[in-house]
Amino acid sequence: MPIDLKTPEDIEKMRAVGALAAAQLEMIEAHIRPGISTGELDRICHDYTVNVQHAIPAPLNYRGFPKSICTSVNHVVCHGIPTDDKILKNGDIINVDVTLLKDEFHGDTSKTFIVGKGSVLAERLVQITLECLYKGIRQVGPGVHLGDVGHVIQVHAEKNRFSVVREYCGHGIGRVFHDEPQVLHYGRAGTGIVLQPGMTFTIEPMINAGKAAVKLLPDDWTVVTKDHKLTAQFEHTILVTDTGYEILTYRSDDTIERVGSPN
Ligand code: MF3
Ligand code: CO
Ligand code: CO
Repeated sequence: MPIDLKTPEDIEKMRAVGALAAAQLEMIEAHIRPGISTGELDRICHDYTVNVQHAIPAPLNYRGFPKSICTSVNHVVCHGIPTDDKILKNGDIINVDVTLLKDEFHGDTSKTFIVGKGSVLAERLVQITLECLYKGIRQVGPGVHLGDVGHVIQVHAEKNRFSVVREYCGHGIGRVFHDEPQVLHYGRAGTGIVLQPGMTFTIEPMINAGKAAVKLLPDDWTVVTKDHKLTAQFEHTILVTDTGYEILTYRSDDTIERVGSPN
């Protein structure tokens, strides 16, 4: 199947839903403190999505996922299920991953927050993971191979003695939540599909402090590091423009240019 190229009308809707997803992460930040449960974070996001943003939380009932957001704490790599008995404590790291659906289009973004004061390792892992996302985004532009994105992410993670999760990747997004292409966070430059204006996809590196291996818990959703060491993730939804990239889920705390060209 060829990769879906968005029309100018589609792109306007992707911008709108992307901005809502970003605003949701900005909103939830104030609630992330020791003592709150991940179940409470889920309820706050759900109510905000439905009642304030008039959008749909895409994870809810997606392939049987039971909640509206994913909350992945410490050694949980991704797809953590919010619960009332998981209470955040000082020094935890938590990835909150939100996907909104509005006017037929999806916006998907995540951020890893540090609860209170993090360890030196936690601070470094979160910072390097954000840098991995930004380095990947800065590769994006027409004519670029998708493998160039994965390559720079892998090099930066491994240079810092961290490892890249292989089993989960970024994805095309639009009317479909998880579409083609797969966006690997590792690989060789000059491989993979060639990007074209109008493509929209996520980049969402999962970077581990220890080994790359992961395992799936019996709930069939929660993914953890096999060695139970820390893991972090950031995600943005990206548009390929005529000259480079545009970040559709840009937040006020982002420290990359919202729109740019490959260097
Ligand atoms: N938002 C996740 C992603 O980045 C997918 C979550 S699927 C769910 O692709 F079912 F777990 F919500
Ligand atoms: Co995604
Ligand atoms: Co996501």
